[in-house]
Amino acid sequence: MDIKTDVLIIGSGIAGLFAAIKIAEFAEVVVVTKKEKTESNTNYAQGGIASVMSSEDSFETHVKDTLTAGAGLCNAKMVNIMVKEGPDRIRDLIELGAEFTLKNGKLDLVREGGHSVPRIVHAKDLTGKEIERALIDKVNSFNNIRLIENSLAIDLITEHNVLKLKEGPLSNRNCWGAYVMRGESKEVIKIAAKATVLATGGLGQVYWHTTNPAIATGDGFAMAYRAGARIGNMEFIQFHPTSLYNPNKKNNNNSNAFLISEAVRGFGAILRTKDGNPFMERYDERKDLAPRDIVARAIDNELKKSGEDCVYLDITHLPAKNIIDKFPNIYSICKNYGIDITKEWIPVVPAAHYACGGIVVDEFGRTSLKGLYACGEVSMTGVHGANRLASNSLLEAIVFSFRASKNIREFLRNYPSDIPEIPGWDDSGALTSDEKVLITHSIKEVKQIMWDYVGIVRSNQRLLRAEKRVHNLYTENEELYKKTKVFEEILELRNLITCAHMIIKSAKMRKESRGLHYTIDFPETLEAHLASDTIIQNLHP
Ligand code: FAD
Ligand code: SIN
Repeated sequence: MDIKTDVLIIGSGIAGLFAAIKIAEFAEVVVVTKKEKTESNTNYAQGGIASVMSSEDSFETHVKDTLTAGAGLCNAKMVNIMVKEGPDRIRDLIELGAEFTLKNGKLDLVREGGHSVPRIVHAKDLTGKEIERALIDKVNSFNNIRLIENSLAIDLITEHNVLKLKEGPLSNRNCWGAYVMRGESKEVIKIAAKATVLATGGLGQVYWHTTNPAIATGDGFAMAYRAGARIGNMEFIQFHPTSLYNPNKKNNNNSNAFLISEAVRGFGAILRTKDGNPFMERYDERKDLAPRDIVARAIDNELKKSGEDCVYLDITHLPAKNIIDKFPNIYSICKNYGIDITKEWIPVVPAAHYACGGIVVDEFGRTSLKGLYACGEVSMTGVHGANRLASNSLLEAIVFSFRASKNIREFLRNYPSDIPEIPGWDDSGALTSDEKVLITHSIKEVKQIMWDYVGIVRSNQRLLRAEKRVHNLYTENEELYKKTKVFEEILELRNLITCAHMIIKSAKMRKESRGLHYTIDFPETLEAHLASDTIIQNLHP
């Protein structure tokens, strides 16, 4: 059954839910989400949210730390907005019911890599879960928010879908909602909306090793690209230095690797090689608390030198009681894997964690398509530049989804006329596929190609090889897609391939090493490339 609403929000992580709550104050909202409502990157966030919440901290230092991590590519105006509006948004979360860890009646602020002072607001080591809980509770209290689970958005609706408007110029495109596949029935419905918010999160599943859950297949990036929106800085994929190394998964897909929070290093843990050597001091004066790109590259280098499968994180020198109190979830999950972190070193490897680039938006979350907003990880506000500072992601999501919701109020107020007549989903002639093995194999192939050739260290040759391989996969999958009735895996594969294409294309455009993009062919960071983003756009949607 088709739906018509004021605002369609795609995604129920922090960005989508926070926007829904703010927009419901003045409009009717439909939120669609791929799986169960809590399943999101947000739900797995551990460390916390960075914000200036104490008198020992200042906006200037948070801005400076963010710009330093961003390696010359942050948008300073956007960083200032995020940092200055951050404390109010944290207070909003508290008002909405999020319960953060306190110390002596005040927020317990901890430290992570790249931060010059303790400024991470957290709920023990389960910050994301607590935020999701509070936001879902609040969403449930609104009559004008309809949250629809197990519904996968396939494509955005623009002029492209309306025959008589198809030829209009790209510079004047509108977004009027999305086609969405409903769970069990696989029925594709049309959700028409005056404003659409993409809050679909990340794309970690493009890589073999990732901390991201299965939902993070980059759907929003790919939908926006197909619709002709501007996409930026896709080469900057952040690899978290410390995901739990699970030897039993060695030859398998290590998707959804368990994260060992950076807060563990913030608490005093030390990275060691197998023979006990604390190696970070050889790479950076900030040692284990250097920004993530530096730590991940150092680990990659140590593993290449030694031929070992993992390095180790050692927190055994700290009192067991304090460790368990601070990191109850990490302690218990590691215990399930047979590792007592109070007595044994934790085996860790880097894993794809976060996309710093995304759909280009302005300070109100507006994309280059009218009526299409993007917030959270799928967007590129410019606050992360070439490398995101730890715990700035949740902050960016609440600050800019709040701003987007304010702008949507104005947008709806001035909405010129009704939405044009939009055709229904057309799958006439398409067949049901009994060749799922083709899809599952191709999914593995994309992930392996991206891990091996477009990972922590890159080169021209590796990028070229990846480009060719991904192009083959694209051609094969498009052929299949055109003649097959849609199902989840084929849609996700299509999106993974599109994201892989965008990452490779952007990486090839950047002829230098900067932040998270390191290539042996251009090892220098070039002054001339300062503040230059790599922008790509599908000019023939
Ligand atoms: P998400 O929370 O990922 O939500 C995306 C939503 O979109 C989901 O509901 C998903 O199901 C839905 N969706 C996706 N595609 C579709 C589709 N096609 N149709 C319908 N729905 C769709 N950041 C920090 O700042 N601090 C931390 O401590 C921290 N820890 C982290 C730990 C882990 C293990 C991970 C993976 C990330 C962590 N991050 C952290 C990053 C941060 O959690 C994410 O960047 C942030 O939560 C993204 O929020 P979001 O709302 O943009 O997306
Ligand atoms: C972590 O807890 O290490 C993750 C923090 C982040 O991704 O910002």
